Amino acid sequence: MLSYRHIYHAGNFADVFKHVVLVQLLRALARKDTPFCVLDTHAGVGRYDLSADEAQKNREFANGVLRLLDCADRPEAVEDYLARVRSENAESETFTHYPGSPRLIRALLRPQDRLVLSELHKTDHAQLKQLFAGDAQVAVHLQDAYQGLKAFLPPKEKRGLVLIDPPYERKDEYERVAASLQMAHARWPTGVYAIWYPIMSRSLAQRFHTAIAATGIRKILRAELCIEDDTDRTRFTGSGLLIVNPPWPLQDEIAAVSPWLWNCLAPDKRGGAGVDWLVRE
Ligand SMILES: C[S@@+](CC[C@H](N)C(=O)[O-])C[C@H]1O[C@@H](n2cnc3c(N)ncnc32)[C@H](O)[C@@H]1O
Repeated sequence: MLSYRHIYHAGNFADVFKHVVLVQLLRALARKDTPFCVLDTHAGVGRYDLSADEAQKNREFANGVLRLLDCADRPEAVEDYLARVRSENAESETFTHYPGSPRLIRALLRPQDRLVLSELHKTDHAQLKQLFAGDAQVAVHLQDAYQGLKAFLPPKEKRGLVLIDPPYERKDEYERVAASLQMAHARWPTGVYAIWYPIMSRSLAQRFHTAIAATGIRKILRAELCIEDDTDRTRFTGSGLLIVNPPWPLQDEIAAVSPWLWNCLAPDKRGGAGVDWLVRE
């Protein structure tokens, strides 16, 4: 049963962090002219209507993407991301729509690049399919993410990114992600992998890191942004990304942008942000 609906959370602080890093990942891939392929395993609907009842319920975007507009001295990486959000809103700063990862990725593809999307929720898949109807560079599949990793890797381009962004509503999702990453990496060791995870408690996040490190995969960057202090009670205090084979100069870019994001998104100045190696080369 898939009960998670991303529209309730679209544009929140965790989406901001994930999507700022995603834009920079794509910029780094586009430094070379040779084609790349992006596989977005948990695509969602692609674009979110922030005026919908679900998004309005908790207005999480107000403490996320909207907050950025009130913070001065925005770094280039934040402006780059905001430009993508503005382009979903007729270049206006009254945001009624928020781009999900598929729209953000699509906007940064060159004509030689390709995007493969998988989404398991039937209604979401239908919406996604409609959004990219007639787009020859985008393939939309009603497919389980972990099956998709087997079916679509390695891509013929031999260069690219896999975004793994599960809802973690299943208890075994962390173990599934670690096992699937190991399998995917064995098929395509040179691919870049970005895995999103929530920080629901520090010990749970640590267990996840241990499971990922135990795969034996090298070169894994860990980037986190928390707006609340660490706790071992189950509470959503922040989120992170594990990035396998991060392209240059991603680490420096995250290190440069994350303190600014934290300062803007954590009004009570709790939590923190940073980037380090979970596993070095
Ligand atoms: C966190 S949301 C994705 C958000 C999106 N990546 C973004 O950044 O805009 C997770 C999505 O994964 C879908 N999903 C859950 N389990 C899945 C599975 N096993 N395979 C594919 N999609 C799945 C959910 O329906 C949901 O739309």
